[in-house]
Amino acid sequence: MSESIARAIRSALLERDPRTKVMAARKVARDWRLGRLAFAFDVSMPDVPGRPDAPELLPPNRMPKRGKGGSQRGRIALWHSLAHIEFVAIDLALDIVGRFGGEMGEPFVSDFLSVAADEAMHFALIERHLHTLGSHYGDLPAHNGLWDAAYETRHDVAARLAVVPMVLEARGLDVTPATLERVRNAGDETGAKILSRILDDEIRHVSFGAKHFVERAETLNEPVNGLWKSLVSRHFRGLPKPPFNDSARLAAGLSRDLYAGVA
Ligand SMILES: [Fe+2]
Ligand SMILES: [Fe+2]
Repeated sequence: MSESIARAIRSALLERDPRTKVMAARKVARDWRLGRLAFAFDVSMPDVPGRPDAPELLPPNRMPKRGKGGSQRGRIALWHSLAHIEFVAIDLALDIVGRFGGEMGEPFVSDFLSVAADEAMHFALIERHLHTLGSHYGDLPAHNGLWDAAYETRHDVAARLAVVPMVLEARGLDVTPATLERVRNAGDETGAKILSRILDDEIRHVSFGAKHFVERAETLNEPVNGLWKSLVSRHFRGLPKPPFNDSARLAAGLSRDLYAGVA
């Protein structure tokens, strides 16, 4: 009998070493695609996934200021913070499948395991780039709040979808083009390529979030916009802030009347 999907995900989540977690996440996605994992949810997901000893995780208000990114130190700080975001994103994608895949069904599992594989690839690309800058993941402190949204929404898939892909990852669509521009203007072509690939992938991630949220709202017989707004205000501190990248958001299936009304 093949291993359950939940067991495979749980052990990837508990993995502490970043490179091992990257390989584990990609293996879960591949094994699922190849039909090697049973659609079974027989273990629970950890409240907090495995984390390496470094980076040290600090509350946002204790994070050192990053500056504008013109200096070598500023560049390393930028790529280090991006590496951390992608590292946590691996766990976010694994967790949504392990926690909610049973109730949401196989297409949901396939979508979000492909996200987990993307995030693992993003992390690996960024980590390699950090090495070329003479640094590595763990060199600097990182933001400890990125898992909060997952923990806060651990009992409700609609809340998870509303907050994680549809607010946090959508925020990535808003801010990445400016970062990409800065990186390109600084002459970092490799970095610009990495960010433009990430931006493409993240549009797909947000679109999976929006698609499954809409389906969920229909199952619950709730109006999509109303449900989203009430879940975001209950589970997310602050509201989505303009300026919005309307075209990327639209490509991901988020219409302006959804998010603009709350901003
Ligand atoms: Fe990513
Ligand atoms: Fe993502």
